[in-house]
Amino acid sequence: MAPTGNSRFTMRLRLEPAGPANAADLWRVHDDDGVWPWYGDEKPSLDQVAEWARLMGESWRFHGVHKWIAYDRGSGELVGRGGVSRTPVDDDWGQVYPYLPAQPWVRVAHRIHRPFTAHANWLEIGWALRREFWGHGYASEIGRAGLAFAFNVLGAQAVVSCTTRHNLRSRAVMKRIGMRYAGEVRSRGMVEGVDREQDDAPFALCVLLRSDWDPAGTVAGR
Ligand SMILES: CC(C)(COP(=O)(O)OP(=O)(O)OC[C@H]1O[C@@H](n2cnc3c(N)ncnc32)[C@H](O)[C@@H]1OP(=O)(O)O)[C@@H](O)C(=O)NCCC(=O)NCCS
Repeated sequence: MAPTGNSRFTMRLRLEPAGPANAADLWRVHDDDGVWPWYGDEKPSLDQVAEWARLMGESWRFHGVHKWIAYDRGSGELVGRGGVSRTPVDDDWGQVYPYLPAQPWVRVAHRIHRPFTAHANWLEIGWALRREFWGHGYASEIGRAGLAFAFNVLGAQAVVSCTTRHNLRSRAVMKRIGMRYAGEVRSRGMVEGVDREQDDAPFALCVLLRSDWDPAGTVAGR
């Protein structure tokens, strides 16, 4: 995909807001055999991913943020997707409240309630790379760019990240970019050694408060 006016750049990557224009690339990431088993018990269809992309585009429009699609700056090759997004105000994400400071900003909702009611002051960060791009620091590069976007551009107070308990590679990214393990929450997802998605899968939760963020960590590197 060609650069757009909303492109952001890291040392090695070009980051484009995810939306209908790059839905096919989002699908290629989630169709990858290294990626889809972490998100469900079957590959998502192109139509399903197109619907995710539509919602991501709406979130960029109304909430000013959602995930990026990441391309190699030199070759233009599709690397993965990631970055920050607002979390819905619901019971699932309400499990995170005890792990954030006991301050009013935690429960405040974003002023625009479309495409969903979201928390105003803290966001979620995540990443997924096509298998051939693992082991080069690209997820950490996306992660650091996401933290800089959340804290510098959106003025967030905190960024959190959740991953299935046994997703050690994702947990390593969280640690590498300076996030701290906080505890576990439960949600629908994959459980180690079980083929089918479960309603109460354990997810490791990491938190980074604005006051603990080291902006020097936003440069690419180990
Ligand atoms: C989770 C996931 C994104 C992690 O990718 P990753 O490549 O392991 O993570 P990073 O991009 O941070 O790369 C770190 C590795 O690159 C190495 N590396 C090489 N060059 C590097 C560089 N220039 N900078 C930083 N790290 C570098 C690091 O030493 C590290 O190697 P190690 O895994 O042997 O310790 C990837 O496994 C994935 O896409 N999984 C499927 C989707 C998924 O699970 N997403 C999370 C769901 S919540």
